[in-house]
Amino acid sequence: MSVLTTTRRALAIDGGTPVRKTLLPYGHQSIGEDDIQSVVDVLRSDWLTTGPKVAEFEEAFAARVGAKYAVSFSSGTAALHGAAFAAGLKPGDEAITTPMTFAATANCVLYQGATPIFADVSSDTLNLDPEKVAAKITPRTRALLPVDYAGHPADLAGLQELARRHHLIVIEDASHALGAEYRNRRVGSIADMTVFSFHPVKHLATGEGGMVTTDRADFAETLRRFRNHGISSDARQRQTEGQWHYEMVLLGFNYRLTDIASALGLSQLKKLDENLRRRREIAAGYADAFQDLGSITLPAVRSGSRPAWHLYPIRLKLEKLSVDRSHVFRALRAENIGVNVHYIPVHLHPYYRERFGTRNGEYPVAEKAYESLISLPMFHSMTDQDVGHVVEAVNKILQHYAR
Ligand SMILES: Cc1ncc(COP(=O)(O)O)c(C=O)c1O
Repeated sequence: MSVLTTTRRALAIDGGTPVRKTLLPYGHQSIGEDDIQSVVDVLRSDWLTTGPKVAEFEEAFAARVGAKYAVSFSSGTAALHGAAFAAGLKPGDEAITTPMTFAATANCVLYQGATPIFADVSSDTLNLDPEKVAAKITPRTRALLPVDYAGHPADLAGLQELARRHHLIVIEDASHALGAEYRNRRVGSIADMTVFSFHPVKHLATGEGGMVTTDRADFAETLRRFRNHGISSDARQRQTEGQWHYEMVLLGFNYRLTDIASALGLSQLKKLDENLRRRREIAAGYADAFQDLGSITLPAVRSGSRPAWHLYPIRLKLEKLSVDRSHVFRALRAENIGVNVHYIPVHLHPYYRERFGTRNGEYPVAEKAYESLISLPMFHSMTDQDVGHVVEAVNKILQHYAR
């Protein structure tokens, strides 16, 4: 029997020695010398933005996820906005999404003047529950906006069936799920449009950045225009009118990704497989280490799904503990384990409460999960020692507060 279970060590929150000396963040980018060199090469080139690296990155990304087209954006949020625009969302329309996400997923519907409608999640994966979605479909519904929470693919078969029946467009927010697989298909090649984020805690980091993948040429064309002020520059017209010729054909934005960021993205993309391998190894290590810990529920993996493990969210069985989630959270932080919580359900943010009158009790599965969620550190450059520290701290704290 280990020393851990036989002797009670004082928790750091009570003045004891923390499990580790420095804070282990919940997520972190990994930038190698090769990444740095690729950015330096662009800085020495003729192009800082919208040069050859953007197209190169888009092509490589589309090939990696198995989509015909990939259109880059300056952030995942901008990419979501582009997808909402390309889907034709407009005032009077509704798009059904999950409350268990970052606010940007629902906000992109608002950017278009349309209305986000929430539906509750399934209790195992915390992804949109197709049955709850079905109950929210009205003649105004135009799109479904599932999120692959924590990197586990949404129930795409169920949602696509609904979309087919009701003529809806599926925009999958795969900000967590680059590299995930669903029924032997790669995320990015399944929904009408799939959105990715390249924020530093994601699988591929460009600082800020995002991408929309699609197999539809019309969506790709609209997305390209939308991210560039709504400008169309037709090669044939340029030949007849002159090389200076362009036309603004819709109201777009400057949502362009730079060549600097695209070079970093290309370099990071080469390491995606190794990154995913390591994240899956860490997830398996956690699952193994915590299998006998009765006071937590581990993240579920449905058969046919291969998650990308952006996050590792555990749920506390609060009835088996003498303290609440925020106390466990503070105790883990005191041990220098940089846990986080994903997510405060979107409908409970003051903006949504005030604008739509949403309140507690409307989405009970998401709300109950939120009360007990803690995201443990999960990033590909975590060492085995880092993982060991997380396991040690979680065991130490949960044994201490076990009822
Ligand atoms: C589910 C989800 N959607 C959208 C976004 C927005 O992405 P970005 O930060 O690249 O704008 C995030 C970012 O964290 C996210 O987690």
